[in-house]
Amino acid sequence: MYEIIDGKQLAAQMRVEIGQNVKKFKETHGREIGLAVVLVGDDNASQVYVRNKVKACEEVGVKSLAYYLPAETQQEELESLVSSLAADKAVDGILVQLPLPKHLDSERVLKLIPTEKDVDGFSAENIGKLAMNTECLVACTPNGVMKMLESKNISTKGKKAVVIGRSNIVGRPMALLLINADATVTVCHSKTKDLKKECLEADIIVAAIGKAKFITADMVKEGAVVIDVGMNRDENGKLCGDVDYENVKEKCSYITPVPGGVGPMTITMLMYNTYVAAARRG
Ligand code: GUN
Repeated sequence: MYEIIDGKQLAAQMRVEIGQNVKKFKETHGREIGLAVVLVGDDNASQVYVRNKVKACEEVGVKSLAYYLPAETQQEELESLVSSLAADKAVDGILVQLPLPKHLDSERVLKLIPTEKDVDGFSAENIGKLAMNTECLVACTPNGVMKMLESKNISTKGKKAVVIGRSNIVGRPMALLLINADATVTVCHSKTKDLKKECLEADIIVAAIGKAKFITADMVKEGAVVIDVGMNRDENGKLCGDVDYENVKEKCSYITPVPGGVGPMTITMLMYNTYVAAARRG
């Protein structure tokens, strides 16, 4: 029998706790916690993400400062905005929604975000600190996955974990978090020779591939924990993950659904990071 890890429910529970901490922070520090969100251009998916981030801020009592810039914004203008947010004492966290329009150099922009305000955990310094297992701001999606495992008391100690995907946003930090949590970690990607063999050895699979229903039942060991970070459309246009959920679930001890799994945790972890950034700054 498999158990579903309900990300929607866990996220809601965590938002209540974060909201209480934000309220306490305001009382003790006499100021708001501020998150600056910068969106350049009119990419539909990015607009939805940003809207949901602003909504989450309202829910937990964080003051959101949203900057909507036109697609033709120049590098200097964007850099000047991010630099001013970096220096602004009312801003605890800065998030520049990615991807930026092609004519903009995102690396140069992200470098302007101070490590302690990098609530996405994307900076080289935060990734480096994570690699060294020292205090840092951790990328939201993989950190949310760890919270999901913790919520079900799923131990990672000595377990074989396979992370599929090596992006800077999910796969790499996910692998680092699992190493820090004492798992034996294998990172697979598009050049991996025998993905099925690697997956069949895994006690925990984290799929961050970006291909609908790519992980099938024959790739999963009986009793495995399967975490699906994917967000795709299937042949009928229906939202689905990287895992063939209906067929894979029967083999699992735990599995996350899509939608309602990892997705709701990501923005919640952004709120968590924003609170942590404010609390560390005081
Ligand atoms: N684009 C897609 N996911 C993310 C995210 O987590 N943070 C930012 N800044 N941009 C994204």
